[in-house]
Amino acid sequence: MIKILNDAEFQLVKDLIYNLSGLDFNHKNKLRLEYKLKERMQQLGYATFNEYYSFLNKRSTSSDIEIKELLDLLTVNETSFFRNKSHFKALNEHVLPEVIESNSGSFMVNPPLSIWSAGCSTGQEPYSILISSLEHKSFINSGMSLQIYATDISQTSIEIAKDGIYPAKRLHNMPLNILKKYFIEKNGKIEILQEYRKKVKYMYLNLKKGPFPRNLDIIFCRNVMIYFDDNMRKSVIEKLHRSLKSGGYLFIGHSESLSNFSDLFEFKICSGGIVYKKIGV
Ligand SMILES: C[S@@+](CC[C@H](N)C(=O)[O-])C[C@H]1O[C@@H](n2cnc3c(N)ncnc32)[C@H](O)[C@@H]1O
Repeated sequence: MIKILNDAEFQLVKDLIYNLSGLDFNHKNKLRLEYKLKERMQQLGYATFNEYYSFLNKRSTSSDIEIKELLDLLTVNETSFFRNKSHFKALNEHVLPEVIESNSGSFMVNPPLSIWSAGCSTGQEPYSILISSLEHKSFINSGMSLQIYATDISQTSIEIAKDGIYPAKRLHNMPLNILKKYFIEKNGKIEILQEYRKKVKYMYLNLKKGPFPRNLDIIFCRNVMIYFDDNMRKSVIEKLHRSLKSGGYLFIGHSESLSNFSDLFEFKICSGGIVYKKIGV
């Protein structure tokens, strides 16, 4: 049995993970880190933490691959379709009509409606955004094209998202007409139809490193920054601000706040949901 990390070892691995991903492990989630590390070391046959840590620090192709695997294992990927209903109400009733109108009046020729799900996990968030947009009257009437980017640090989650196959029970509160139009049943599971699946562009993107896309109308970065410390959160929020067009909107998790960033984002309550509108250009 591999021993639990001592304080010095915990500090080393915590710093390594933070520098690579911004994920912040502290005394509260130390046990989770230890458990995942032990499991991974056992899988790979490392007997001591020092051996594994030296390997991770080698900066070789194989250690880079292992670092990606380890970060993937350390992420929390909980998500669901139309998570936080009030956000989707705000999106439908305020945010989409406003950004679509502003794009229609833009000096650019036919700008697409561009939305990014940053920290998309297994795809339920970007597919919910896709369905909301495609069903939206203003969007249908605008004749605009739609670009949805969905990124995550967990390659395992991205692969699940790309497949778009979910246990039927995960879709239990989806309206029947939406279910029938966008999904098919296969072997007791529910699969998003390929014609819709391919409308979301999935990519690996580590928010610690970027690159951050630009010229976006809307960003969803919900329940992602809760795993970061204040410095990483500040750096990500400033970059998300730069990624948005002037007047663009940011959605964050309902337990998160941008109260320290009132120079960058205007706080708004729309249809019972909290949204943040970019200030400045
Ligand atoms: C709890 S899930 C949230 C999923 C979705 N946004 C939602 O609210 O339902 C958090 C996601 O953030 C991703 N994540 C964590 N750190 C990240 C980083 N540094 N860069 C990109 N994604 C990250 C995780 O892999 C995970 O899939």
